[in-house]
Amino acid sequence: SKDLQQPVPFMGWLSWNVWEEAIDEKIMLETAHAAKRYGLDKLGYKYLCLDDWWHCCKERPADGFPEWDQAKFPNGMRYLTDTLHALGFKAGIYSDAAAHTCAGAFASYGYEKIDAKAYADWGFDLLKYDYCGAPPAAEEAQRRYTAMGNALKESGRNILFYMCEWGPREPWKWGAETGATCWRCTYDSRDYWDWGSKANGGHIGVIQGVDVMKHLWAYSGVNRFNDADMMMIGLHGTGRSSSYDAANYPTGRAGMTQEEYQSQFSLWAMYASPLTLSFDIRNISDDDLRIISNKEMIAINQDRMGQAAELVSDTIISGQQVEVYVKDLENGDMAVAVFNRGESTIHYTFYPQQAYLNGKKPYKFHDVWGISQDKMVGAEGYNMQVLPHQTRVFRVSRK
Ligand code: DGJ
Repeated sequence: SKDLQQPVPFMGWLSWNVWEEAIDEKIMLETAHAAKRYGLDKLGYKYLCLDDWWHCCKERPADGFPEWDQAKFPNGMRYLTDTLHALGFKAGIYSDAAAHTCAGAFASYGYEKIDAKAYADWGFDLLKYDYCGAPPAAEEAQRRYTAMGNALKESGRNILFYMCEWGPREPWKWGAETGATCWRCTYDSRDYWDWGSKANGGHIGVIQGVDVMKHLWAYSGVNRFNDADMMMIGLHGTGRSSSYDAANYPTGRAGMTQEEYQSQFSLWAMYASPLTLSFDIRNISDDDLRIISNKEMIAINQDRMGQAAELVSDTIISGQQVEVYVKDLENGDMAVAVFNRGESTIHYTFYPQQAYLNGKKPYKFHDVWGISQDKMVGAEGYNMQVLPHQTRVFRVSRK
């Protein structure tokens, strides 16, 4: 149909990091009511998504049709999606391009048409399609994702297709051809700043995500978004993924500072990544709510040009690694982000020419996080202080 498209990155909540296989109808509905109460729907967080292990069983039922867990979803999927829709949300579901999902439930390989039709009949609006247990070759991944992409198109419902093969097959180069509008580019992000050399393949910190995402900007565009995985804000070291994983954290514990959560939010927004939460939003602290409801940061992410921020500078300033990004916006403004990866505060001067702004008169620099007042800046540049792990973000305009 004509609106099979998702022109801007989707926003929402996924169950995985906080609930893993404990997700059920009660939690989903409480999550939806809370999201409404906090006004997350109005901010754009529309997709509330079941992740792995909504399924009845490890093996597909003998009749070939997918089934949910009756104990977890006593009123059925249609009741769940109807309720989410009535509250103004969209509903997401999850499967995998092999025989089993990562958590070991039956998955969709060979059953794409049956499953896509079932998800459509059940009223879902998004499918996250994982790649555990599937062959490593990129051609095979393309075939498997295309089979599901086609099945979704024929399902009779507008279902956003979200690929999750984690990046090794460079899905940013071919994802759009499968019918997907976004694709995970990284392994599973964990509630941790930097795994350093201890990175263990499946799990990464924010810095490892940045190191992938910062090179992918040229592949982003309307209807085609590089996904950096769920953001860690709100977890504060809690969540089922954090606890089973505790032993693997380089310091033995999960959790980041508020500055780090805000940095991740800023960078993910600049990358035009889908903005997805995965914490217990039934109770949101004022500090977390302030970050996830920054409308100016969200507007930069949701800008209809669909551009991801270009890395225009990646240098060492006063011994600290500093990344500078600029993102083209539809109304002619530019978003500018200065990210200090280092461990001490830096002073940095950003020049309008770095954002391809070469006019004679000064530009207005508006600080998206409200740290500084608006300032008119010409060739002399904007001198700013950037704390360790902080990302300063500005909206630069000609007026
Ligand atoms: C791997 C994915 O990368 C995660 O986001 C999550 O969906 C799990 N699989 C579920 O098993």
